[in-house]
Order: sequence, then structure tokens, then C-alpha cells
Amino acid sequence: MKVSVKVPASTANLGPGFDCLGMALPIYNTITIEETVLPGTGIEINMMSEEKEEVIDEMIFDNIPKDENNIVYKAVEMLYNSIGQEPSELKINIQSQIPITRGLGSSAAVIVGGLIAANKLLGSPADETALLSIATEVEGHPDNVAPAILGGFVLSSQESDGTIMCEKLNWPEEWDITVCIPDFELSTNIARSVLPESVPLSDAVFNAKHLAMLIQAVNTKNEKLMKAALHDKLHQPYREKLVPGMREIMEAFKHEDGVLGCVLSGAGPTILIISHKYDLDKIKSTVKEIWESQSIKTDIRTLKIEPQGAQILE
Ligand code: HSE
Repeated sequence: MKVSVKVPASTANLGPGFDCLGMALPIYNTITIEETVLPGTGIEINMMSEEKEEVIDEMIFDNIPKDENNIVYKAVEMLYNSIGQEPSELKINIQSQIPITRGLGSSAAVIVGGLIAANKLLGSPADETALLSIATEVEGHPDNVAPAILGGFVLSSQESDGTIMCEKLNWPEEWDITVCIPDFELSTNIARSVLPESVPLSDAVFNAKHLAMLIQAVNTKNEKLMKAALHDKLHQPYREKLVPGMREIMEAFKHEDGVLGCVLSGAGPTILIISHKYDLDKIKSTVKEIWESQSIKTDIRTLKIEPQGAQILE
């Protein structure tokens, strides 16, 4: 038996919502898990091409472990262990459209896809809450895995007793979301390693009030409030040095009417620009020009929010 699951990309943080806000985006990974019948075959993990069902062997996937250290396998193993079983003889195929190590939730998508597929293979012993909890444990924070499972715009929190709280929020459909993906990688581990252990009280207060403003702004479609809200002092200032051009891009749109904000997508290096009735070609050309002046190629896409979370493909 084999099960395939299609999972959306996600952008996390949205400025002040560090580790708690995330939004699903219409770029997808498909994860297929097959229980192989031949005993002794162990686990097999393949990166597959999108068009043809062929295994691809590209350098960008070289750093992805193909054994028990693979995050999909780890998540699946935790699920099996939670019901007193051990996984064996599994073939995991990953078709990846989501650019890896760019801050677009590619790892969350494969973890979620693997878990949902394995859960189905096991006869669905785990509910959504249990899957969310395992996915958060593997990923380290819930802000990408929550929208990958639920779709839409999600506020999530891992509480001190380990439980995950999730709340879907409204997102004004008319606000454009442009993702500016540079052609360099930034691993989340590196992007988290530059963050301080503690921050000044004034910075914590800054984020608390800007996050409250953001929630109110999306609920009331208040663009002025949103523009004031999309600022952060907990992660972006520390990560700026890892993302060449980030400061220039943010400066370029700071005073533009119609651009509601410009933030780092997750841990970066992708930059997310939120706008309304603003010239999208101008966003593209401005970002392109800044990054190209630093010899950085770009892939810039304006997307709609993906309202659906992970789907089992029949
Ligand atoms: N909230 C996380 C971070 C998202 O900013 O590190 C990246 O996975």
C-alpha cells in the first residue's frame, strides 16, 4: 500500500510574529510513503522529479540525509513509536517544488507530508493535534507546520506543557503577497544561531504590541495599521547580516504608498512583500535590481494565500 500527500509551502513570522505566525502558500511538495513488501529492504528515501516519476540526483539534494537521519523518517518513526510500533521497510519519495533552505517551509512540508501519509498507512491512529505535536517536535517550532497542516493564516504556540494551540486568522484576499527568493541558501540552524539568548525588555514590548496591531489589522483590513505593524526587533535585526540586500530592499519600499510591509520570510533569505493596489512589476524590478547589483539572481512570485492544508491524494 502507498499513500501520497500534497503539502503547501509556508511563510513564517510575518515580521512581529516570530515563531508563532505562519501562512500557507500555493507551492507544493508531494510525499509518498510505501510499505514495501520485501523484508530486509530497510528504508529508501528518494528525491523525485516533478514531471516524470524519476529519481533525481542533483547536487542541491546532496545534503539531505537519505537514511534514518532524514527528518521525514524521524517524524514517521516518532509516529510509529507513539503507538508502540517500529517502522520498517519504508520507501519515501519526495517531489519537491518548494525551494529548499529559503525560508518557505520546505522542511515543515515534508515532515507534515510524511506524518500524514504514515498515519494513513497505519489506519489513522493519530488525530490532527497529535500530528501537529510530533511535527512541532521535529521542526522545533509550530509556525510552519501549523499552516502546512491546516492551510490559511495561522497563529500557533507551543505551550509550556508541550500542547500546541492553533488559531486560524483572517487574511484580506485583496492584499498581494510577493515572495522574493534569492538564489542562495540560508539554513534555519545558522539563522537561529545568530539570535541572542535574551533581548531587552523594550524589544520584547515592541514585538508584543506590533503583533497585537497585526492581528487587529488583518481582522479589520486596516492597511494603515498593518503598515505600522509589520516590524520586528526579535529576529530580523540579527539576521540582516546573513541576507545581503535585505536592508536596501526594506528601505526601498518603506515610504511607498500601497506597500504594507517588507519582512523576512521565516528564517530567510526569502523576503516577503505585502502590498495592495501597488504596481507588482515595480516590486519585481526594484528587488531584482538591488539583488542583481550584488550578483544575486532572483525568483519573484506574487501568490495568493493557500486556504487548504495538506491533502491526501486519492
Ligand atoms: N520561526 C522560525 C524562525 C521559522 O524564524 O527561525 C523558520 O523555520
